[in-house]
Amino acid sequence: MQEYERKIKLKFKLLATFYDMFDIPYMIKPDSNPRLALAKKIPDDALRILDVCIGTASSSLPVAQANSHNQITGIDLSPEMLAVAENKIRKRGVKNITLMEMDATQMSFDDGEFDVAIISFALHELEYELMMAILKEVSRVVKKSGQLFIIDFAKEGSWLETSVLSIYFKIVEPKHIPQFLRYDWSELLQSVGFQVTDTEKYLFAKLISADRNAAP
Ligand SMILES: C[S@@+](CC[C@H](N)C(=O)[O-])C[C@H]1O[C@@H](n2cnc3c(N)ncnc32)[C@H](O)[C@@H]1O
Repeated sequence: MQEYERKIKLKFKLLATFYDMFDIPYMIKPDSNPRLALAKKIPDDALRILDVCIGTASSSLPVAQANSHNQITGIDLSPEMLAVAENKIRKRGVKNITLMEMDATQMSFDDGEFDVAIISFALHELEYELMMAILKEVSRVVKKSGQLFIIDFAKEGSWLETSVLSIYFKIVEPKHIPQFLRYDWSELLQSVGFQVTDTEKYLFAKLISADRNAAP
């Protein structure tokens, strides 16, 4: 097992049982929740959706519940995060999410298998090279006409919001966060075959929508 995989597995083994507490601000302010906004963006068509690093399924669940025709596959390295996801899916009686333990840098899917990919609150965890390796894999498994939605931290907004995030980053998140917050997503996604079409700001985060380019 590689060093990064060992670290990620340990971190989320420790966090899994109380990971969903990080969503409390979104429960208090549902209008500012990027996960609910994402669910509204995806049509209720027979789409194959890949949730990369699905964690406890907090983004996939609202999508699956709003769109019964979507078929969602969620992959993650952490068996403990997947166990929490499985429990939530079962309790809510959701039938259109399938979970798989899989490394997102080496997916076992065919080229162009998915119409849509989602990556929420996962890319900031990863060093640049690892993040790019995952985005290249996502580009491979998403159809040429497909879409990618990314939800991740954005340190923009009110003084209170950015101050809360600064404290949170110091306690919980990796040291490369300042670098992550400066990424030019249009340029970065262009380099792996996606064109950014929209960026919306929500509480603590932004939701980036991108279309898969015909090339490369
Ligand atoms: C911060 S959590 C985000 C979970 C979820 N997507 C959400 O929105 O709350 C990051 C997740 O990424 C997973 N992860 C990190 N690197 C991974 C990799 N290479 N392959 C699969 N999962 C990975 C971790 O196990 C963890 O569950």
